[in-house]
Amino acid sequence: MAVLVTGGAGFIGSHTVVQLLEHGEEIVILDNFSNSSPDVLDKIRQISGKDFKFYEGDMRDKELLKRLFEENKIEAVIHFAGLKAVGESVEKPLDYYDNNINGTLCVLEAMKASGCKKMIFSSSATVYGNDNKVPFTEDMKTSATNPYGWTKVFIEHILEGVCTSDKEFSAVLLRYFNPIGAHKSGLIGEKPNGIPNNLMPYIVKVANGEYDHLNVFGDDYDTPDGTGVRDYIHVVDLADGHIAALEYARKNNGVQTVNLGTGRGTSVLELVRAFEKASGKKVPYVIAPRRAGDIAECYADVSKAKEILGWQAKYDVDDMCKDNARWALKL
Ligand code: WQD
Repeated sequence: MAVLVTGGAGFIGSHTVVQLLEHGEEIVILDNFSNSSPDVLDKIRQISGKDFKFYEGDMRDKELLKRLFEENKIEAVIHFAGLKAVGESVEKPLDYYDNNINGTLCVLEAMKASGCKKMIFSSSATVYGNDNKVPFTEDMKTSATNPYGWTKVFIEHILEGVCTSDKEFSAVLLRYFNPIGAHKSGLIGEKPNGIPNNLMPYIVKVANGEYDHLNVFGDDYDTPDGTGVRDYIHVVDLADGHIAALEYARKNNGVQTVNLGTGRGTSVLELVRAFEKASGKKVPYVIAPRRAGDIAECYADVSKAKEILGWQAKYDVDDMCKDNARWALKL
């Protein structure tokens, strides 16, 4: 039986496929390269020494999905495929609702037609919205402040509904905090198209001279140094969390929601300093106005992941910065 990884050529998807292959899983990838590139596929083969089947296409292509599920015995789906830029989702809400929600419904329909009843879903800490208090726990109320976040909230509810209607279905909703870092080989990592929205890829472009400084969005938050605090998690730790979730789904039915974070908060300036130390490069910055929609602090309570998945993050921010520098700056 194979595991289908939608979005498996992406940043988190490719790291998860490497870990799954090394764990002995049979893998099928579906990706339309909307936020990834074909060269990642050979890098995955090079790192793992293993092969996998690949289908290029959009998860809304029902004929393609039908063929994929007919040609492969899919036991479980790890569902990464989705648009994920917060700002872009505000400009193009219909694209986000169609791609992320309708796309997920197409995948679920194909799973139902073939009797596949396990899904590990790529959710996000963004569903904690602006009204909860840190550290965030899985039982907290969810909401969103942008269409991207709403797609994650809606898909979590869709999967809850599927598990209510089909008692044999197993869904693990993984709420990622802030994934950074890269595989220690330096062969795969985050490669966002265009101007990065997120902090770490922006820091990298300042460190390699593409941009002359970083804009620190506000230093007047109620945090130790006034800058935003986030729970950065190594992408390989995140990948291993999916393996633990797959093992859990193999033994349990129903829906489980689990935070994947370290449980520790790191400020913008602390991350800048850690990256300078890891890379030996300076990262000049200026204090800029706050970014609309940002919250002061976002970090996880990680007790449930340990309790039900037997998983906890192994790497710290220094490891993440070293691995990021090796990948992005070829250090
Ligand atoms: C981190 C901190 C910024 C850029 C987003 C999405 C979330 C998830 C992860 C998908 C904040 C500050 C940033 C910059 C800065 N993505 N910052 N200058 O906003 O926590 O989460 O990415 O699931 O859904 O919302 O991550 O990296 O954008 O920001 O000062 O140029 O860095 O204010 O405090 P965020 P981020």
